[in-house]
Amino acid sequence: MNLVTIEHLTKSYTERLLFDDTAFSINEGEKVGLIGINGTGKSTLLKIVAGLEEPDSGTVVRGRNLYIRYLPQIPEFVPGDTALESIMRDNANETHYSSAEEMQATAKSMLNELGIPDHEAKMETLSGGQRKRVALAGVLMSRAELLVLDEPTNHLDSSMAGWLEEYLKAFRGALLMITHDRYFLDSVTGRIVELDKGKLYSYQAGYRGYLELKAQRLEMMEATERKRQSILRNEIAWMQRGPEPGPPSRRPTSRGTRSSGTRRGRSMTEMWSWNPLPAAWAAQLWSLRACARLTGTRFSWRTLPIFS
Ligand SMILES: Nc1ncnc2c1ncn2[C@@H]1O[C@H](COP(=O)(O)OP(=O)(O)OP(=O)(O)O)[C@@H](O)[C@H]1O
Ligand SMILES: [Mg+2]
Repeated sequence: MNLVTIEHLTKSYTERLLFDDTAFSINEGEKVGLIGINGTGKSTLLKIVAGLEEPDSGTVVRGRNLYIRYLPQIPEFVPGDTALESIMRDNANETHYSSAEEMQATAKSMLNELGIPDHEAKMETLSGGQRKRVALAGVLMSRAELLVLDEPTNHLDSSMAGWLEEYLKAFRGALLMITHDRYFLDSVTGRIVELDKGKLYSYQAGYRGYLELKAQRLEMMEATERKRQSILRNEIAWMQRGPEPGPPSRRPTSRGTRSSGTRRGRSMTEMWSWNPLPAAWAAQLWSLRACARLTGTRFSWRTLPIFS
């Protein structure tokens, strides 16, 4: 069952388009890693999923009474709270602890695991990394159906990262996470979503599988581009040779069609069956050629002379 479904997501801050009519969804119990280069909008997507930001257009549908806990990239705190108070405050609505004492014992244990042994330290005296770990401990104490974690592995040493890795693998709810730790990503998540130039691409794999699938996708795109270039080069060469002498039916008509069966006819048919666009280009080339003849102008495509 989908916990969150986002469709036709479009959002920009000022003139920068972060999401361009794209989609995202996450299922019950699914563990998803979100990747993308810095500043592409990853944190913004997490905020939209968590309901803290609204898209400019598109729809966001969350399951009824869906319980989400969110760890921001840079958490904020109530001034004056100690680390323990801060966690207790964040979990005041958690109902699965039988008593405040039980919740407090769990909070202390989490803080210890994440390298905050001084539970009474005031939040404002802690470093940015320590604050992030306090916030992480607080979020992990919940029984959310969906954890949304923005860079939880920042500021963790390897033993803390190992502990978090096991904790999240055992976590039964869904997880949407941003992390730059590729090993962690590969170990914890089962699906990678990549944000690239406003579009979200989903790969049903861990990070290693994502790398392989992405390489395949790029190879396919390159092969398609090579084929397009080759067909276009052939077409330009064909145009440069000029029309064969023959009955008018062998010449292009105003609708850009030719009789089939000739060498040239087959070439055009092949090209049009592949993509209708070159048909339009061919028509343009015919006009350009006529123009070149009339005016003595030279035309070229990249470094390739077309007509002169
Ligand atoms: N509230 C806001 N107002 C204006 N611009 C914003 C706001 N939030 C984010 N941005 C801009 O939108 C872009 C994407 O920000 P976002 O934090 O979502 O990216 P990110 O992929 O998480 O980046 P990073 O990898 O650095 O964490 C950035 O250029 C950022 O400056
Ligand atoms: Mg971010």
